[in-house]
Amino acid sequence: MVDCCIFDLDGVLVDTARFHYEAWAAIARELGFAFTAAQGEATKGVSRMASLEIVLRAGGLENRFTSAEKEQLAARKNALYLQKVSGMTPADVLPGVRSFLEDVGRHGVSRVLGSASKNAGVILDCCDLRRMFEAVVDGTTVTRAKPDPEVFLQGAARAGAAASSCVVFEDAAAGIEAATRAGMRSVGVGGSPALSGATMQLRSFENFSFDMLCRQID
Ligand code: BG6
Ligand code: MG
Repeated sequence: MVDCCIFDLDGVLVDTARFHYEAWAAIARELGFAFTAAQGEATKGVSRMASLEIVLRAGGLENRFTSAEKEQLAARKNALYLQKVSGMTPADVLPGVRSFLEDVGRHGVSRVLGSASKNAGVILDCCDLRRMFEAVVDGTTVTRAKPDPEVFLQGAARAGAAASSCVVFEDAAAGIEAATRAGMRSVGVGGSPALSGATMQLRSFENFSFDMLCRQID
């Protein structure tokens, strides 16, 4: 039984995970070291400040900066990131996503956004996705970042759904762990081996339907 689908944003509905990575890699370069794509995996799903700590640790710089300097580095990363996302349009929504969201809606099942990002609203508007969700929970309302289950528990509460009837769509290991801790089933999107803890795997939403989800996850 699936009453509510909760979607992560970055890397699930839109390909912004690579923009987050590119912006952090630029900050690392400015600080004098290379931040690899493999290292970038650990920042997926993780809050902005926690991501900064991961980047600084990769460069051996974890004790180098004051809190104020860290705030500046995070703000600079965000400015670079916003430059990259500001040109996004509805064409940037990943293949199959829009028709899957419509299909879920047609079944009367709640669609909730559950993202760690403080920029979720900007992206939803650029990509004309906001109207596809009954509720939006994002980095502006959540205090404890994934893998804490808060974002998904808030999402279920907003939809009036029991955790056991929710399915979370996630591209990050931290998000799959958050879903499991929330008592929810999860779909690991994108095929990364880091998502082996998910209830089921989905490479892409292309040709995927709500009926297929129910058949595979129930
Ligand atoms: C998550 C991303 O969705 O949002 C993380 O996967 C990112 O990489 C986090 O750090 C916070 O995003 P923002 O936009 O608030 O910096
Ligand atoms: Mg993500």
